[in-house]
Amino acid sequence: MRFPDGFLWGGATAANQIEGGFDEGGKGVSIQDVMPSGVSRPPTEEPTPANLKQVGIDFFHRYAEDIALFAEMGFRVYRFSIAWSRIFPRGDEAEPNEEGLAFYDRVLDELERFGIEPLVTISHYETPLHLARTYDGWASREMIGFYETFSRALFERYGTRVKRWLTFNEINAVLHQPLLSGAIWTPKEQLPERVLYQAIHHELVASARVTRLAHELVEEVRVGCMVIAAPVYPLTPSPADALAVRQREHENLAFGDIHVQGRYPGYYIRMLREKGVELDVTEQDRQDLTHTVDFVSFSYYMSLCETAGPDREVGPGNLIGGVVNPTLPASEWGWQIDPVGLRLVIESFWERWGKPLFVVENGLGAKDSLVEVDGTRTVVDDYRIAYLNDHLYQVGEAVESGAEVLGYTMWGPIDLVSASTAQMSKRYGFIYVDRNDDGSGTLDRFRKKSFDWFREVIATNGASL
Ligand code: BG6
Repeated sequence: MRFPDGFLWGGATAANQIEGGFDEGGKGVSIQDVMPSGVSRPPTEEPTPANLKQVGIDFFHRYAEDIALFAEMGFRVYRFSIAWSRIFPRGDEAEPNEEGLAFYDRVLDELERFGIEPLVTISHYETPLHLARTYDGWASREMIGFYETFSRALFERYGTRVKRWLTFNEINAVLHQPLLSGAIWTPKEQLPERVLYQAIHHELVASARVTRLAHELVEEVRVGCMVIAAPVYPLTPSPADALAVRQREHENLAFGDIHVQGRYPGYYIRMLREKGVELDVTEQDRQDLTHTVDFVSFSYYMSLCETAGPDREVGPGNLIGGVVNPTLPASEWGWQIDPVGLRLVIESFWERWGKPLFVVENGLGAKDSLVEVDGTRTVVDDYRIAYLNDHLYQVGEAVESGAEVLGYTMWGPIDLVSASTAQMSKRYGFIYVDRNDDGSGTLDRFRKKSFDWFREVIATNGASL
């Protein structure tokens, strides 16, 4: 058996992509409410009903039904995020919104009923809009205090029930998506690098301060960082390409290095110096950064290629595009499929940091067709089964090599609204949701073929792969 006993099998979602109920229970407006096209177009001035996230998949009202379906598959863990604007509608209030807190109590009740462990992301691309517009998001140092107030409210309310927390979803995405990830309202093209790196610094300090806060307030807590993992391969064997790969990898690795080692690595300081960026770092910041994480979590969808040469055909990707790898197939959205890359990521992270790892996102966005098989409506998603099987097999390989992997939460166990494109038709789930890109549909749920496949994987602790 490759997978250890107690391996946490499950799924992962984010509030803004599933909940809907965008104006219920005292919820405020978040950046997602003005991003009806995901990251493919600039934000709108006001929320619009054309935004599929206003209804999402209506998890706000159907959470009990959905969690029962997760339980039917045998989930041992469910990763979800808490919509910041449900708890602090504007983000800078002193007191939390009780109705918002009560909603997640009800979600936790359902999880407890089935013995599913919660894994909570504090901030997943859904900062209150007021913080973006008024403070320019993480460009402002004041965000550290607002985020701490939010986190304290969560630890005080749920600390007895939630023992595993992630501070920021894909924290390294801010380099590429300053609004989505950093709530920075200034358009990317107008954003000086100095401001961007200062915003990153504020997030890193906030992450460390909240890690310490959790350790103080919550017994037996484990706090992790969360990064986009994407191994980078040289396009050619030339040393220049190898160096370009290393520089590209450092962009991502810096975030893990700082979370795990508690200080800026030398290569990062050099990079800032060469860019002419001088950061405002206080002595308190330096001390705060030393509060390191207990584990490292990451999303993995694809690998990238890099080259120093002029031939840089950049393909689409999970918020970070890379040079197209001529040896790999791609999904319908152009994300290149590379199961071995997942093994490489796990083994290299383990060797670099020696911290327990958690694969908290991996999955295939694909077009699905609902069909009738033996009188039951379903999706015959053999392509998704193949993708997940191949990736999980590689997780097993990394475990064989000695890596400590705590668990695997497949991204989007139930169809949800895509983060990058805001489409429903980019489906990830084991569970089909009847909702279309134009907002039509009954919102009814249907088990796909992969539903039974994943139930078997969990029941056999991975032996069926
Ligand atoms: C990750 C995000 O980038 O990838 C998720 O953490 C997102 O929020 C997932 O949904 C898949 O990306 P997309 O763009 O296909 O939804």
